[in-house]
Amino acid sequence: MSKFKIQLKKTDFKEGELVKTEVGDKSIVLGMIKDRIYAMDSVCSHQGGPLEEGWLEDYDLTCPWHQGVFDIRTAKASPKTNWVTDLNSYSVVVDEKNGEIFVEID
Ligand code: FES
Repeated sequence: MSKFKIQLKKTDFKEGELVKTEVGDKSIVLGMIKDRIYAMDSVCSHQGGPLEEGWLEDYDLTCPWHQGVFDIRTAKASPKTNWVTDLNSYSVVVDEKNGEIFVEID
């Protein structure tokens, strides 16, 4: 397990907004919900849609291409759109003193 510091700080996030970043060799999307930040793969498992261009409603992240839905907490496909397959989610650690954000990748 490796811990990567990302370029963004917690103050760069707005509730419900999605942000893409590279972590190691992975492309991930981060979103803040109820003051907590979640991270998962940014490339949709259906046909590669850019999930950072999708939208969040509660914990549901919807892909902009064909509206496949993932739970941003777990990256699992929603039963509502079970024709997409699960992606990977990543642990996010926020240093509350300085707002720095670390993402843990296996
Ligand atoms: S590419 Fe995401 S739902 Fe089709």
